[in-house]
Amino acid sequence: MTPVLSIGSLKTSGSSTLALTLAGVAAAAEIPVVLVDAARDKDLAEWAQKPGRPAHIQVEVADDEIALERIVRAARRRGDLALIDAGDNAEMMRAGARLSDRALIPVRFSPLSAYAALATDRMLAAEAGKGRRGRDWAFVASAVTTIPSRIARTIEGMIEQSPTPRLEIGLVLRAAYEAPFLHGGTLFTLTDDGAPGLERARAEAVSIAYELGVLGYVQPTEHPAREIDERAAYAA
Ligand SMILES: Nc1ncnc2c1ncn2[C@@H]1O[C@H](COP(=O)(O)OP(=O)(O)OP(=O)(O)O)[C@@H](O)[C@H]1O
Ligand SMILES: [Mg+2]
Repeated sequence: MTPVLSIGSLKTSGSSTLALTLAGVAAAAEIPVVLVDAARDKDLAEWAQKPGRPAHIQVEVADDEIALERIVRAARRRGDLALIDAGDNAEMMRAGARLSDRALIPVRFSPLSAYAALATDRMLAAEAGKGRRGRDWAFVASAVTTIPSRIARTIEGMIEQSPTPRLEIGLVLRAAYEAPFLHGGTLFTLTDDGAPGLERARAEAVSIAYELGVLGYVQPTEHPAREIDERAAYAA
């Protein structure tokens, strides 16, 4: 089955950036993608107006739950990957979580982003009993700074209080992730002069896409890093 992923948090935390990054990886692998702009800002719809959009990425705007459901159903029928950017809209996040295989809550390592992520987590948990589809959601770090700080560690601790898992790989804070919004295109169509650090951003984007099963289905439990940890534990 082709996955449908829904991305959103109750406060601006990098949902459009993550959605476009994943869409770029899929398109580079020639997987057809429907990128659903269900956010208030319509940043993805604007991106689609710029030059360089790969033919494999179709951007559709959903202004309400009914439109969102229609777009997702059509994508499933075609077997396309569907990536929903719900932005910070609670109604769209709930609908996106209901319609998707997995919802992602991006977290920037700032206190306000973490509070919003935890509020989003509680909202999705409250919704989880409703509807037929089994609910699955996870936190994903966005715009991570590589310099460790006490605040970042405190926030990590807050996120770990929730039973909701956090993806092992996140997006590091890099100008390359912003470049597609400036120039159009994706990480995989831009060149290094338009987007410094492209190589690393591409590698990171591919890893996160693998972890999410965007490039063919990989069960989360089959993640190599976790297997290595388990084997190490057995060996000890
Ligand atoms: N990994 C990253 N590296 C660098 N900048 C990033 C990264 N992720 C997000 N940003 C920047 O942070 C800001 C917010 O990101 P983005 O627009 O993706 O968030 P959003 O949740 O979609 O926001 P909104 O609710 O306003 O639509 C943008 O200026 C974006 O360029
Ligand atoms: Mg956005």
